[in-house]
Amino acid sequence: MADLSGLKERVREIRNEILSSSGALESSRAAYEKRKEFLDSKKGKIGQLMKEMREVPAEQRAEYGQMVNELKQWAAQRFEEIDRSMKEKELAIRCRAEAIDVTEPAVKALPGRLHPVTQVREELIDVFASMGFEVYEGREIETEYYNFTALNTPQDHPARDMQDTFYLSPEFLLRTQTSAGQIHVMETKRPPIKILSPGRVFRSDDDATHSPMFHQMEGLVVDRHITLGDLKGMLDTFVKKMYGEDAVTRLRPSYFPFTEPSVEVDVSCFACGGKGCALCKGTGWIEVLGAGIVNRRVLENCGIDPEEYSGLAFGIGLERIAMLKYGIGNIKLLFESDLQVLNQIGDQE
Ligand code: DAH
Repeated sequence: MADLSGLKERVREIRNEILSSSGALESSRAAYEKRKEFLDSKKGKIGQLMKEMREVPAEQRAEYGQMVNELKQWAAQRFEEIDRSMKEKELAIRCRAEAIDVTEPAVKALPGRLHPVTQVREELIDVFASMGFEVYEGREIETEYYNFTALNTPQDHPARDMQDTFYLSPEFLLRTQTSAGQIHVMETKRPPIKILSPGRVFRSDDDATHSPMFHQMEGLVVDRHITLGDLKGMLDTFVKKMYGEDAVTRLRPSYFPFTEPSVEVDVSCFACGGKGCALCKGTGWIEVLGAGIVNRRVLENCGIDPEEYSGLAFGIGLERIAMLKYGIGNIKLLFESDLQVLNQIGDQE
């Protein structure tokens, strides 16, 4: 038979053990584990005490049973309190960690949008497509023949010096102008021809307004009775759609080997309406493109009879249009892929 005073001592020890160990608990999970250590129905230390009952003399069993039961109730209550206070503490920590300051400015989701040069390209395609032009994508690697010779610029022609060329071999080069596409089109298609050819071009040229790679858009119309009047009418329509109803064009004589006559086309300044300002350098006009009537030699080179057909052509520099439109002084800003810059210069719509 067990000695009741020894068992009483054991009950006291367990009580002290619970008191001393529960103070150090740091989480509801730890409290749960600790509770199991004492109150688990099978292996808990208090349950073990109950099992000692068999060893207690019959007349003392009631007393012992009551003692253990009191301990059990006390422990259950204590662990319940610990659990509640741990959960409160944990909730407070979580609330602090997940707190949302509704007065903070929201993080703005920036939608992607098109590069300014792409915007200009699409705008031009829209304008000319509405006049019946079809898009023809040329090739960036050209032969010397398509880029120069067929465009009435043979080897020893001084106009070749107008464009510093990247040669890949004596025969192949990176096209310096989208005009090269004119020849491909006229070789394969019979008039009427009405094409627009946008693309990248390359020149060994590098300063604030020139980049070794830039974009052009070529236009070519070949049909019977095409005249400079058609060119002027078409360009007037173009500038009105692009810059507003009040915009007008002015043609100045110029020189390109593949057109005769050749013109530089100015548009009335879209910043000041022609009065004269910083953008147009006080002249009221802004140069936007080169154009002309297709040189009969170019038609002949493509097997088109210049007695029967005539054509008009124009070439627009897209970066130049974008720089004018967005007031950019340095072409490099368009190519540095700096979003802070690009976000400022694109359309804000
Ligand atoms: N290819 C010329 C250049 O790169 C631009 C140009 C001028 C194209 C007159 C044309 C044109 O079609 O008729 O400077």
